[in-house]
Amino acid sequence: MQRAARAVFCDFSGVVNPLVTHQSFKSRALLQHSCRAYSVVPPPQNEEEKELLHRMLRVDHAGEYGANRIYAGQMAVLSRSRTGPLIQQMWDQEKKHLARFNEILAENRVRPTALLPFWNIAGFVLGASTALLGKEGAMACTVAVEESISEHYNSQIRALMEIDPERYTELLQVIKEFRDDEMDHHDTGLEHDAESVPGYWLLKNVIQLGCKAAIYVSQRV
Ligand SMILES: [Fe+2]
Ligand SMILES: [Fe+2]
Repeated sequence: MQRAARAVFCDFSGVVNPLVTHQSFKSRALLQHSCRAYSVVPPPQNEEEKELLHRMLRVDHAGEYGANRIYAGQMAVLSRSRTGPLIQQMWDQEKKHLARFNEILAENRVRPTALLPFWNIAGFVLGASTALLGKEGAMACTVAVEESISEHYNSQIRALMEIDPERYTELLQVIKEFRDDEMDHHDTGLEHDAESVPGYWLLKNVIQLGCKAAIYVSQRV
């Protein structure tokens, strides 16, 4: 074994990993970044930045939590329908998003919104009630919610890019990946007849108004 080649490097999680060789590390094209002492969120430089980050992470976690509850509500109604597997597929991705934000909140000691019990019920009721309108109703709900979440993630991406894209590389990566998933969910909804539910535009606008309100309060409470 070539000891010299086994220098200590960081793996993707930022944890020092002696098994990551110089060569393998280089091949991951991460050599340009120095060893980070954190996995996703850099330590805030001042109170203002800390407050900003905590708000961002709190609302993202709340959004993913709410999305999970919406898909749970949809599945309570439509799990045995032909659309069940498609909804389950999107829900499975939401579960991964939520798990990631659970980790990030814990790592950075960010308290979740106090409104989780409310989003628990509201999300489920929204998902189930729109699913009662049929597959198209569920898909209309998905389009409305996913569009709001994608726009929300895009505004966070813009904000972080303006502050310091280099320091926020890892967080930007997570948010961009989730934003792409949400866009896929949005497109799936459109491809599966969301727009054909009666009162589509009204339903979409009412749901999006609710999303805006949810985002506003979840950052603060
Ligand atoms: Fe999500
Ligand atoms: Fe989604």
